[in-house]
Amino acid sequence: MSTTMKKERISSPAKRQKVDTEETSEMTQKVCTKEAPPPAKRQKVDTGETSETTQKVCTKEAPDSEWPEAWLMPDEVEDQTADNKLEPNVPVSVASLREIGISYWKMDAENYEYPTISVPWNPKDSTDPKLSQIRDNRGYSYADIITVHPDHLPGYEDKIKSFFEEHIHDAEEIRYIVGGQGFFDVRDKHDQWVRIHVKKGDLMTLPEGIYHRFTTDSTNMIHAMRLFVGQPVWTPFNRPCEEHPSREKFLELHPIEKNPDSVVV
Ligand SMILES: [Fe+2]
Repeated sequence: MSTTMKKERISSPAKRQKVDTEETSEMTQKVCTKEAPPPAKRQKVDTGETSETTQKVCTKEAPDSEWPEAWLMPDEVEDQTADNKLEPNVPVSVASLREIGISYWKMDAENYEYPTISVPWNPKDSTDPKLSQIRDNRGYSYADIITVHPDHLPGYEDKIKSFFEEHIHDAEEIRYIVGGQGFFDVRDKHDQWVRIHVKKGDLMTLPEGIYHRFTTDSTNMIHAMRLFVGQPVWTPFNRPCEEHPSREKFLELHPIEKNPDSVVV
């Protein structure tokens, strides 16, 4: 765009709106990086420009530097909501998480609002193009939003204990953390517990058949979107369930390896 055109556009209010639109469009293309415009601004982008912009939303997984912190944890813990790091701490690399089939996207949870609870949740209520694109690309046809907190989840204490039972599912587990934080614990390729600290803006998937569990952290609050392909089935199959077809499928892709240097006690 020439300097003359820029000046012209800024000179009249009607044309200034056009400039805003162009800026919004540019920013939307940068959703991948970090900054994203608030929904109100994005709604100004209209018709053809919107669809072009949506196609350009980057839905690549986040670079390693943006993944949540992860570390090895002991087999036995007194307080499931504590960090439970080993001493000294043993960080777990993103490569190790990818190796067991975990995927991760960094989302813009700051500029979009979500209800405290919505079961199910209508995706038309969000203008986040990156979320829409990921849903489309991966076939996530169902979503709901829940808040795990003593005030919003009846039987909170019992629920938290049940979430912390080691289990698998016969489908991918997909969670987008829109507020608060918590821990996903997963078994790594040596069958050791790895604790992943998920926070607002994290969208993470756990593969079908992986042993895992969940707990809130010491803040006791997580606000999460649950996504699913088709009709949701949340049934957990508690360990041991080595004969379960989903577990067998997982082990074919990610066999357990003995770790002679295990540091977990
Ligand atoms: Fe689960």
